[in-house]
Amino acid sequence: MLEPTPMLLAAFSLGLALLPLLFFLRRWGWLLIGWNECILQPIHNLLMGDSKEQRILRHVLQHAVAGDPQSVLETIDAYCSQKEWAMNVGDKKGQFLDAVVQEQQPSVLLELGAYCGYSAVRMARLLPPGARLLTIEINPDYAAITQRMLDFAGLQDRVTVVLGASQDIIPQLKKKYDVDTLDVVFLDHWKDRYLPDTLLLEVQLP
Ligand SMILES: C[S@@+](CC[C@H](N)C(=O)[O-])C[C@H]1O[C@@H](n2cnc3c(N)ncnc32)[C@H](O)[C@@H]1O
Repeated sequence: MLEPTPMLLAAFSLGLALLPLLFFLRRWGWLLIGWNECILQPIHNLLMGDSKEQRILRHVLQHAVAGDPQSVLETIDAYCSQKEWAMNVGDKKGQFLDAVVQEQQPSVLLELGAYCGYSAVRMARLLPPGARLLTIEINPDYAAITQRMLDFAGLQDRVTVVLGASQDIIPQLKKKYDVDTLDVVFLDHWKDRYLPDTLLLEVQLP
């Protein structure tokens, strides 16, 4: 039988010690994201004097090609995978979004939850001529960043960024935003609003 060497014993003990950590990470992944977003991120922002979303926009303005939506998407994806995680839909799920837009060829598309404009750039770049996207964002800082992202990508003519809460804006879609029917709706705001906003949309735009 093999004698356990000190190195083997150390590796075994380390493995054992890390097991609860692995369990914790799997089970409490969201807790870690919360810790990062609510504790670490605000401290980082305080030290840097800006926000993560401003850093994402600045990175795009410095590194992406103006007027090239694909380059904007790739620059955001690279920044968020290498530097700071952000709640963009991202490239993997974004490909499903691309497929839906390409299949449906919507004339009017509604997004709830713009954040930094990643998915708005993603969908708007595939819209057929004359089609439009309305994206509703509750946070004024995020709405402003989305507008700058779209301007930089050269998509400002296809997209209207609407500042406000979905539940307040949906009842105004018909009269104020001249929307009769919606061909595609992308729900990507807070999950507790998915059902009430879907019901509201059914009532407002039957
Ligand atoms: C997951 S992020 C959206 C990500 C974005 N669609 C993308 O993939 O680039 C969710 C966004 O929804 C916004 N939001 C949350 N509740 C909202 C509401 N009731 N109305 C409008 N926006 C809302 C948040 O401020 C946040 O920016």
